[in-house]
Parts: sequence; structure tokens; C-alpha cells
Amino acid sequence: MKHKVVLKNSAISKVVEIEDGSNLLQCIREQVSDFYAPCGGNGTCGKCRVYIPGDGHVTSCLYHVNKNIEVILPHRVEMQVLSSQYKLTKVLPQDLGAVVNMSTIPYGLAVDIGTTTIVFYVVNLLFGSVVDIISIVNPQSKYGADVISRINYGATTPAGLDELQKVLVQAINGAIAKFCVSYDVNPTDFVKISVVGNTTMLHNLLRIDALPIAHAPFTPQFTEVKRLIARSLGITIHERGELVLSPSLSAYVGADIVAGLASVDMSKLGGNFLFVDIGTNGEMVLVTPDRILACATAAGPAFEGANISCGMPALAGAISEFDQGSFKVIGGGEPVGVCGSGLIDVVATMLETGVLGPDGNISDDFVICKDVDFSAITLNQKDVREVQLAKSAVFSGINRMMSMAGLSFGDLDHVLLAGGFGNYLRISNAIKIGLLPPIPIEKYIQVGNSAGSGAVLALNTENFITQMEELKSKIEYVELSTDSEFPLEFAMNMFF
Ligand code: FES
Repeated sequence: MKHKVVLKNSAISKVVEIEDGSNLLQCIREQVSDFYAPCGGNGTCGKCRVYIPGDGHVTSCLYHVNKNIEVILPHRVEMQVLSSQYKLTKVLPQDLGAVVNMSTIPYGLAVDIGTTTIVFYVVNLLFGSVVDIISIVNPQSKYGADVISRINYGATTPAGLDELQKVLVQAINGAIAKFCVSYDVNPTDFVKISVVGNTTMLHNLLRIDALPIAHAPFTPQFTEVKRLIARSLGITIHERGELVLSPSLSAYVGADIVAGLASVDMSKLGGNFLFVDIGTNGEMVLVTPDRILACATAAGPAFEGANISCGMPALAGAISEFDQGSFKVIGGGEPVGVCGSGLIDVVATMLETGVLGPDGNISDDFVICKDVDFSAITLNQKDVREVQLAKSAVFSGINRMMSMAGLSFGDLDHVLLAGGFGNYLRISNAIKIGLLPPIPIEKYIQVGNSAGSGAVLALNTENFITQMEELKSKIEYVELSTDSEFPLEFAMNMFF
């Protein structure tokens, strides 16, 4: 027996027929590319709720369809995605290789595939200039918020790897198509694509099983530069158009970090500096005149809203700033949750006002404000513990690298904050809650989406790929999961 399912919100109206007993989340995933289901359908995050007239709010991953239904989906809008490139980016002469002769006005596409978002930079290769930037929610989000959920999806679902690859290829083709319609350009004028991203995303794009990334000893199937004909993946650009993947360092320090760090003009910095990118994971690099150390920690889910009861990504409706009861909402409307930067402000306020003690205990849920339905947006004890775990993971990783290099925080000349979260967070509050090193704020530099800058440099300058490989060869990777001193460090830094 089949049932009719009507999927609706202000942007979508679709009618599908599905078998009796089908899982509702699976049905939505097939129709809506960016539906938010951070726990991957495990029934633990509660974020996949939809409204069914007659049944009320239901958790879609736990709902099985046994009648005709209308499903009201939450309204989704584009994320607050950071795409800007900043003053510290290197300037390199253009050097395109052979592809420039494939079209009279050749275009290239630089792609930064993050776990949560994808940013596309369209580059006119005659001039080397970025002519358009398109950002979307990573369509793989419907398989889980973090890379482990997606790796498991690829490993345990029939044709899961095909699906993970397909949605990325569709996203790339979609961005090219969108640009071509707006600017009256032919997709075959695109002659080169440069891709950066975390190691799992690059495996998914090439349809290479990422399961070894999820289990000790965390060995990816490849980290080197890959070059292939884009059409071999189903990307419909010029028939000889090339796709270049930048090099990764390890399972959890990906090509986005290598490209981002390589894009920084280090001659403007000198001395000792930290490069910190907190996304779904926290990735940190310590650069000294003698050594370069890098590590990664599981940090992000709390700061991306996935494990926090009132948490949400930096979407419209998210409280992104909070100060003693006043707050700013992305998009300016009514608040519906709190994103990472707002979460740091809330915890800092709780510490300042004595609601939260150094041990992280609270006696009552902290009321942030009333939401659109006049129920309270609150932070509970479990949420605070999630923040403690995340901030300790990042800070402890930084501390371990500092001690391995024989440095103290006073020796740091700069801390570079890369990525969207690093750009939007209030540094003073991040220091207050113990996420970032306690050094003068003037030493912090928010460098924007350095991974995107690296992807554009790789598109425009063949020599930049060599520079990334050289940089990678100098980086010492610190595996924190086998570091004997990390557990104690982590426990100590749980305190505020
Ligand atoms: S509870 Fe359904 S996706 Fe998390």
C-alpha cells in the first residue's frame, strides 16, 4: 500500500508517494537537499522535527508513514557563511598550465568543501579574479552533522558511497549551472576546478571509502595531491577540464588547513604564531622559526549547535551575540536557538555573573530569552558540559603543541583565527571561557576563509600546489589520541 506525502514550507511544495511504513526522514532526504539531521537519523539530537497537522511536532527520523500526510518543514535559509579573503593572503603571479587555451574566456571554480557548508569561488582565469561567490549548506548534512556519521552512512548503507559522492557532484554542477545562467556563460568554458576540504570530504568526492579515518590508527586512504579529468566524476565542464585536489596532512588535518596555512603570507608575521580553525573539528597549527606542529581535536559539534539543546548552526534565527541579556539574531528576526559564537557569549556571561562556577556546575537552567513561541531558550547542565568538553579539547591541543615546542603563551606573536566561527566569535569571551590562549587581543588576527583563499591560489597558480606540498612535508603531525600527556591536560582544562 502507498501513501501520499505532501512536503511544504514557504520555499518548497512537493508531493511524493511512498510505501506504507517508510521512514519519514528518508523520504524528506530524497526530496530536500539541505534538511538538517545532525545525528544522522539516530533519534538522539531532536533537530529533525517537522509539523504534521493532526499529529503535531514529530521527530521525522522516528516517524513511519502509515497514512496520507502533510508535512510542514522548517523554513531553511542560507547559512551565514564566511567567504571573504583577507589581507594576509599571498599574492602570486598567475600560472595556469595548459588549461588556459581551452576557451576564449576560461573560467575556473575553487571549491571549499566543509562538513557543514560548501563555498564556491568562480574565477575568470584571464584575469585571475574572483567574479562570483556561491555558498550552500553541504547537502551531505542530511546524513549527519559530523564526518563520523557520514563515514558510517557510506560504510553501512547500500550504495551509501555513491550517494555521498553524488550529492557533492550535484552541488558542484549546480553552482556552475547557477553561475552560467546568471552570466550567460557555457559550462564548457569552465576548464579547471580546484578543491580543498577536510580529508573525509575529499574521500567522499572521489568515492573512496573513508572508513579507515574513523578507526585507530586513523590512516586515510590518500593525502597526496590528486589530478583528474573533472568529467570522470560526472562534473560537466570542458571535456578536458581538470580537477585538482589539494594535499591533506592526516585524517583530521585536511587540505583546507594545508591550503589555508599555505595561503598566508608568513613573511608579514615572523616569530611564533598559532593558526586555529574551529569548525566541526578544531584544527590547530603552531608555526615557529624551527618547527611546524599540527593537531586536531573533536571540538565542533557544540560550537555548531549539534549537541546543545537550544543549539543551531549560524542560520537565520540564531542568536549570534549575547551580552547581559541583550542579543543579536542572524537575519534580525525572532530567536529560535543559539549558534556557536552566541553560545560562547552566553557561557561567558554566566561566568561573569556567578551563575556558573569554575567547576561548570549550575543549579538551574539558564534562561537566555523567550523564543518565537514564547517558550524559553535555555542552557542546561548537559549543554554546559558539552561546552567544557569542546573548549578543553581545543585549549589542551594548543597547550600540548606549545609544550612540545618549548614555548609559553608569552612567546606567541600572533594567533590567526581562520574560518567562519573564528571570524564571528568574540575573542575576549573565548579567552574568558578558556577556549583560546590568554594573550593580548591585539595579537589575534581573524584571517577569514583562508581555505577558500588557498583553493583560489591553487586554481590560479600551479606553483602554489608545489608550495602546499613543501609546507606539508615540514609539518609534524601530533596525534593527540596517543599522546600520554593529553588526558591529564584535557581533564585540567575542563575547569573554567
Ligand atoms: S533526532 Fe532525527 S536526525 Fe537527530
